[in-house]
Amino acid sequence: MRSAKRLEKIPPYLFSEIARAKAKALAEGKDLVDLGIGDPDQPTPQPIIDRLCRAASTPVTHRYDETPWGWQEFIEAAAAWMKRRFGVEVDPGGEILLLIGSKEGLAHLSWAYIDPGDISLVPDPAYTVYKISTMLAGGAPYIMPLKEERGFLPDLAAIPSDVARAAKLMFLNYPNNPTGAVASQEFFDEVVAFAREYDIVVCHDAAYTEVAYDGYKAPSFLASRGAKEIGIEMHSMSKTFNMTGWRIGFAAGNRDVVKALNAIKSNVDSKQFPAIDIASAYGLLHQDELENALTLYQRRRDILVDGLNAVGWKVTKPKASLYVWTRIPEGHTSIDFAKRLLEEAGVLAVPGIGYGQYGEGYIRMSLTVSGDQNGERLQEAVNRIAKLG
Ligand SMILES: Cc1ncc(COP(=O)(O)O)c(C=O)c1O
Repeated sequence: MRSAKRLEKIPPYLFSEIARAKAKALAEGKDLVDLGIGDPDQPTPQPIIDRLCRAASTPVTHRYDETPWGWQEFIEAAAAWMKRRFGVEVDPGGEILLLIGSKEGLAHLSWAYIDPGDISLVPDPAYTVYKISTMLAGGAPYIMPLKEERGFLPDLAAIPSDVARAAKLMFLNYPNNPTGAVASQEFFDEVVAFAREYDIVVCHDAAYTEVAYDGYKAPSFLASRGAKEIGIEMHSMSKTFNMTGWRIGFAAGNRDVVKALNAIKSNVDSKQFPAIDIASAYGLLHQDELENALTLYQRRRDILVDGLNAVGWKVTKPKASLYVWTRIPEGHTSIDFAKRLLEEAGVLAVPGIGYGQYGEGYIRMSLTVSGDQNGERLQEAVNRIAKLG
């Protein structure tokens, strides 16, 4: 049996390889401090679970959702949330679309815009889906390096004008995975001007806007003047409400882009279990009353960053996201260094190269650590790393 050629272009999914290394270490009886995948370790707030249980007992949720954009209660709650949280107006009748998690939306967007040979502008290092989905659609990702000296923002002026003219899609993500960097509204204003000049659809992946520290509030790309004319933003319940396993998010913004994405989706999926939509709507409408894990993440961040800096590392404290992104000592590749951390210290971190060529020289450590109550596993990681020297 021969699978499609397009599959040959795809490198192994980084986290599958990490899962294998982790399983091996655990089988050997190692006590791992797992700073690998960014998957909230705290439970979904109980009121959301209660709402799910009630909705799941209502037979109307047991059938296909035949609405055009997604279960009305969810779509309206998402529109109200965009208005309340960012001051952004989006029409529930065509400017918002339910996603089965933002990963799915990001991947399908490439199918809606990229024909064989088309260019998409993709940041590097980055969440791998932007690049791989472009390749799966037969397109050519053009890499926008995210460099530390520019605060991990792409240099739009460095994109050659013939590339910009040919590009159809640009992916961005702030607060950023893996660097933890944030973007200002002024940066988004520049993106809008650039995209308008070159007629590019912008997709801002906003999965981490609600994971922020020290009072920082991440802005929405859609709050920039003219943004809705050229792009969309993808939001996710995953990190905001500890709901990664539930698989729900939404795309909001330009009506034509939402429609194009929906044209793909309505041919490959049949929306989400409506009880999940209803429970998520509750979360969006009651965000401020629900318990969140931000105080715990912030404590972990401080223990990790202050602890590593105290033993001679130079680590910047991220204002947002679930990640600490840090340079590794000269003379190692990120894979070798992560291997050494795993084998000699029992600390699992992700090698930066897994996020693209500009991730080399870095590792990513996640603040979502199963079994950690109050930062003690992060302290354990720091102690073990300190012992390594
Ligand atoms: C930058 C980024 N975007 C999107 C996602 C996908 O989130 P979801 O659970 O909504 O598919 C992730 C998940 O880790 C992510 O890191």
